[in-house]
Amino acid sequence: MTVTKKHFGILPDGSAVHLYTLKSETAEVGILDYGATLRSIVVPDRDGSPVDVILGYDTIEDYVSADGYLGATVGRYANRIKEGKFELNGKIYTLAVNNTVNHLHGGLIGFDKKMWDVKETAEGLCFSLVSPDGEEGYPGTLSVSVTFSLSGAALSIAYRAETDADTILNLTNHAYFNLAGSGSVKDQILMIAADAFNVTDENCLPTGEIMAVAGTAMDFRSPRAIGDAVDSDEPCVKLSDGYDANFILNGTEPAAEAWCKKTGIRMTLTTDQPGIQFYSMNRYKTRRGKGGALYEKRDAFCLETQHFPDSIHHPDWPSVVLHPGEVFESKTTYSFDIG
Ligand code: BGC
Repeated sequence: MTVTKKHFGILPDGSAVHLYTLKSETAEVGILDYGATLRSIVVPDRDGSPVDVILGYDTIEDYVSADGYLGATVGRYANRIKEGKFELNGKIYTLAVNNTVNHLHGGLIGFDKKMWDVKETAEGLCFSLVSPDGEEGYPGTLSVSVTFSLSGAALSIAYRAETDADTILNLTNHAYFNLAGSGSVKDQILMIAADAFNVTDENCLPTGEIMAVAGTAMDFRSPRAIGDAVDSDEPCVKLSDGYDANFILNGTEPAAEAWCKKTGIRMTLTTDQPGIQFYSMNRYKTRRGKGGALYEKRDAFCLETQHFPDSIHHPDWPSVVLHPGEVFESKTTYSFDIG
């Protein structure tokens, strides 16, 4: 793996943003120090031609002003927390309500909008930051690192965090994948190794109910086109205008697999996280992306590896509490080949 660095742009506060490129013999990955943001993953199609399989923007201004978290590292808490409030050790913490009536993706200035320090390590390219106690309302000083490493056409993202006071944490990467490089992903094939999912309300917040995928639009246990039921009348997709729910992983590997007939590109995802938010670019505002491309609703899919949304209000779900002295470590790998 080789690493190169170049200037990408200047933030309104004058900070210089850089684009790092990781290169292996088969793949090339671009990452910004703004948001520890994955900007490109270029892999060969079945004819050996390079295809960039994620969405992104050309300028730092677009990254700063646009919504959608394209390729960003999301934290402190990826996904939703009910009404932006939670109780920990008898104390109530109040967070930004930035998604209808709930808190989403870490708040107003989440990890996606921060500058990260970067250094090359034996494992790969390590992005780190310290989130001060009380930032965005969360307790504890949190030291976080996200290491990207590329081996052949396999990109691994390793997350690590420590705190000096009890806190909650849920980290993910919000890449928007399109294995054809552009156009609708409705004909791309997806498998998710999940027997169940978290039922959500009209604001995409888990109701607490866990439902079996069998016989529903959420059944991706066998490979199936994303477009099969994304626009169907089933409540689990209709309420969110498509897929936007946490799939409860069975723990079998791979956790997910996606394939594109046109390019032959297959992505295999492995993770140690208990869930994946599958989001099908619902209610998405059309915009210009890399190279002037037009990005529209359903032009990509996100597979956000994570703990379950709003876990802090569901004590029987896997815990999202991090205590001082503990080290949170997690890894997700996206491997590309021709299927
Ligand atoms: C959420 C969606 C949201 C998208 C972009 C996903 O993780 O679940 O509801 O629209 O991120 O912010």
